[in-house]
Amino acid sequence: MKYIKDYTIKDVQDVYDGPGGLLWEAVMGEQIHSGGPETTDFLAKKLGLKKGQVVLDICSALGAPARHLASKYGVMVKGVDATKTMLQKAIERTKAAKLDNMIEYFEANAMDLPFKKETFDVVWGQEAWCYVTDKNRLLQEAYRVLKPGGMIGFTDWIITGKITQVELDPLYDSMAFPYMETFEGYQELLKKNGFKVVEALDQTDEFTKCFDQYYDMVHVQLKPNIMQNFGKDLFDFASNLVTIWQKAAHEHKVGRGFFIGKK
Ligand SMILES: C[S@@+](CC[C@H](N)C(=O)[O-])C[C@H]1O[C@@H](n2cnc3c(N)ncnc32)[C@H](O)[C@@H]1O
Repeated sequence: MKYIKDYTIKDVQDVYDGPGGLLWEAVMGEQIHSGGPETTDFLAKKLGLKKGQVVLDICSALGAPARHLASKYGVMVKGVDATKTMLQKAIERTKAAKLDNMIEYFEANAMDLPFKKETFDVVWGQEAWCYVTDKNRLLQEAYRVLKPGGMIGFTDWIITGKITQVELDPLYDSMAFPYMETFEGYQELLKKNGFKVVEALDQTDEFTKCFDQYYDMVHVQLKPNIMQNFGKDLFDFASNLVTIWQKAAHEHKVGRGFFIGKK
């Protein structure tokens, strides 16, 4: 039985409308996912992105991956996010980068996409769907808005080993996650919703290396910045978070999954 906690979209909005989003940016970079632009290029290349394609980034946050994809691969991007502060910053930064002719943002829930069926060549997601309360519904929506033959590519924080409810509790609480999918679970969900699974990779080793870096950054380089700009309570929060996630990743209980599917 899946262990599900009572975190909702409101809890996610509280994190990203508050200092959480900027704290994440300070630690992970403007592309708020482990591995930064390199992992974005890895996903883009696996998907074979081509100039002129229309990509939907579900949970686009500050829009940094969208800008990367538009400027480097010549794709048009629609970004969807549920948090106003993230959307506002994404819009400002996209305008400043003069990419607003290629990228448009929409305020919406990932589980109820404001697009007609068969609109996109590619559905894209990076390390955010762990917040979504019903990932089956999300993949149903992804399938609906993809053109026939379209591709889905995403990474996410997942369960990659044996882990108890007691161990999951503090991890979920630190992130306001309702639940994480497993490596096998995502592949089953893709198939159940009509996708062919083209590739699935357990990238826990890379995820663990990133957490080793985040642990050092929070406790050494970034400590004065976090203390000064975010305060001691948020420093303690970040310190606890990187400590417990680093440990669970080293034990190969949690990590990053990478998935490519075709409609
Ligand atoms: C870790 S950030 C995403 C990072 C982004 N994909 C990137 O790589 O830069 C998580 C984002 O997901 C958004 N989010 C979480 N749950 C959502 C949902 N159900 N619908 C839409 N956006 C959601 C949050 O508002 C937040 O901006």
